[in-house]
Amino acid sequence: MATNHDAVLAELEALVVETYQLWDEEWVGFTWRNYTFEHVLRVRALARTLSEREGGDGLVLAFAGLLHDIAKGYDGEILTASDGQRHLDENGFWRNEFLPPARQNEVTRLYGELELARTLHNNSGARLAEVLLARRGLPGSLGRRVAEVIQAHLHAPPGAGSEERVLYDADTIDANVGLPALLRNLFINLHREEMRLAKDNGDFAGWVDGHRAEFYRWWLGEKVPTWIGSRRQMFLDRMTTPSARLLAAARYDRLEAWVQRLQVEIPSYAKALPGGGLSALDHFVENRSQPRIAPLLTELSERYAPPAAGPAAELIGDLRREVQGER
Ligand SMILES: [Fe+2]
Ligand SMILES: [Fe+2]
Repeated sequence: MATNHDAVLAELEALVVETYQLWDEEWVGFTWRNYTFEHVLRVRALARTLSEREGGDGLVLAFAGLLHDIAKGYDGEILTASDGQRHLDENGFWRNEFLPPARQNEVTRLYGELELARTLHNNSGARLAEVLLARRGLPGSLGRRVAEVIQAHLHAPPGAGSEERVLYDADTIDANVGLPALLRNLFINLHREEMRLAKDNGDFAGWVDGHRAEFYRWWLGEKVPTWIGSRRQMFLDRMTTPSARLLAAARYDRLEAWVQRLQVEIPSYAKALPGGGLSALDHFVENRSQPRIAPLLTELSERYAPPAAGPAAELIGDLRREVQGER
């Protein structure tokens, strides 16, 4: 009997959503609880776009994109030595504390049965994916390919297949390059400042709402330009396919143009230009507690629906296209 791939994909998508909610931690390292599932959907969409240009099996990439971070919940805080340096394993990957879930489902029970505790999430994810696909009647050859592609998502070795390279590039771009990565950077910085001020008995939530222009001046004027400047060449050099390199360069150009436009708006921020780019960013700042980017973007799209024109509508449009992996 032919397997209905769309039905299996939909079922696995529900399983992936459920799995990330088995942990109660609000923040772990650079990740908040609702981040990973949205990241997974963006990576899958971007991998689809890249594979249209680079070739590659779309079905393998659809499953591998969806399941590539299925074991990510077990990654606790990044381990550091007493000198603050991150612990690296023999391949140069960061090592994390082992973080068990608060509740169980099919994925976590399988994780236990396969004795995957304390393995890197690319290796454990590959094993989990292969069994999850086999249990749903998919051929072993497909499951093995999906597992190989997931296994390579932290490092696509020279000579790797095009699916491996496309997933690696899509994963690297989503977390680091472009407007979705800018929002990730925003939420991480808001969270860090909140933690820092909480230690000093300060109230960051109140501070950021009363000093929004000051916050933007610091973040958009200092943090973001340093972040872009120190990483642009590094991430372009990491791309393993020509299409991803072009797409990443275009994302950096668009990002730099937006940062400049937003910086220009800061001095007049108090006048709260309703259609300005900063008013779109405000929606993310105001909803920074366990944010989900896609629904926030939908709300903004409704607020700035055509015929609304201006920087806010334009920024939302650019964000949507990158979130959907179109460019
Ligand atoms: Fe990953
Ligand atoms: Fe990922």
